[in-house]
Amino acid sequence: MSYLTVSNATKQFGQSFMALNGVSVAVERGEFFTLLGPSGCGKTTLLRSIAGFNDLTSGEITLNGANLRVVPPHQRDIGMVFQDYAVFPHLSVFDNVAFGLKPRKVPAAEIKTRVTQALDAVRLGALADRLPAAMSGGQQQRIGLARAMVINPQLLLMDEPLSNLDAKLRIELREEIRDIQKQVDIATIYVTHDQEEALAISDRICVMNAGRIEQVGTPQDIYGNPQTRFVAEFVGTLNLFNPGAALDAMLGHLGLSAAGAAAWAVRPEHLGLIASGATAPADAAVLDGIVTKFTYLGREAHVGVETPAGNLVVQLANPGMAASRAAGEKVSVVVPQSAPMAFDAEGQRLGRKG
Ligand SMILES: Nc1ncnc2c1ncn2[C@@H]1O[C@H](COP(=O)(O)OP(=O)(O)OP(=O)(O)O)[C@@H](O)[C@H]1O
Ligand SMILES: [Mg+2]
Repeated sequence: MSYLTVSNATKQFGQSFMALNGVSVAVERGEFFTLLGPSGCGKTTLLRSIAGFNDLTSGEITLNGANLRVVPPHQRDIGMVFQDYAVFPHLSVFDNVAFGLKPRKVPAAEIKTRVTQALDAVRLGALADRLPAAMSGGQQQRIGLARAMVINPQLLLMDEPLSNLDAKLRIELREEIRDIQKQVDIATIYVTHDQEEALAISDRICVMNAGRIEQVGTPQDIYGNPQTRFVAEFVGTLNLFNPGAALDAMLGHLGLSAAGAAAWAVRPEHLGLIASGATAPADAAVLDGIVTKFTYLGREAHVGVETPAGNLVVQLANPGMAASRAAGEKVSVVVPQSAPMAFDAEGQRLGRKG
């Protein structure tokens, strides 16, 4: 049995709205498990249900083999970190972190040891006597992390802890959180709606949509082998082909069967560009088109191309100076045989995967 299990969880708000609609997840010991999905999909509701701030409408939650739903929130032994730093401005960094230990009747000497350890883990050891007002957002969020860890929780829950920080700090702190989590080895459920953050930080990602789970997998699975159209579109960028003769000819050339497929798509980085009329590589089809847009982004460039099978974005890696394309230029888009993904009318991935 997994360390944390949630089985068939539902949460109804009001007469008929289901914020969670049959959610089951299993998190392993020491795992960094991320809930990823758009606003309103139920991430916070699931996290709060595990913490005990929400009661489920139906379903089961177990932690380390024990039924969690019968345990009151303050006895659940779960550390939480929130989006707003939730630090007490009138307490020093040390006292902010010690706060969670007071009601647990921990002796003063042990409080000192444990708070010092927690502050060292988040690299705030030298700032123990400061007041939070004199600290940056990133430092304040590390106070929150130390406070969640100091109780030696069985589980850490983090709800968008980085969303109030600027982009650069967010990247720095996400690496730190990942390192600290691996060092303390506490199973962690992390919530974000930032796909790159989820890919960077997680052992496994659970993609949620409208109160349901779309897919659970490693970052490589989720990005490289999406099982639904929703996952493919939410994590990464997707070019959708227009149905019609040009698409059918391309699929025929590639030897791909359209049976049961309601939509075909490719990732921009799986496409290539060659000069108009140049010979296509083996195992690839070409679509003749006209450049509509060229966006240079340094380590990559995005080229918009209008083709008979749809308007496609082609991503070129390491474009350099020579890759520039002018609007109106004739080009051919190379579609390798392994690139197209097919989805049925319900958005489920069809055919060959991986
Ligand atoms: N107490 C409540 N009463 C009624 N509806 C609620 C309540 N809490 C949440 N909801 C609704 O449940 C749905 C899921 O909310 P939740 O907060 O779990 O979303 P989320 O995935 O965390 O979104 P975000 O990324 O915006 O934080 C939303 O439609 C929300 O409006
Ligand atoms: Mg939320």
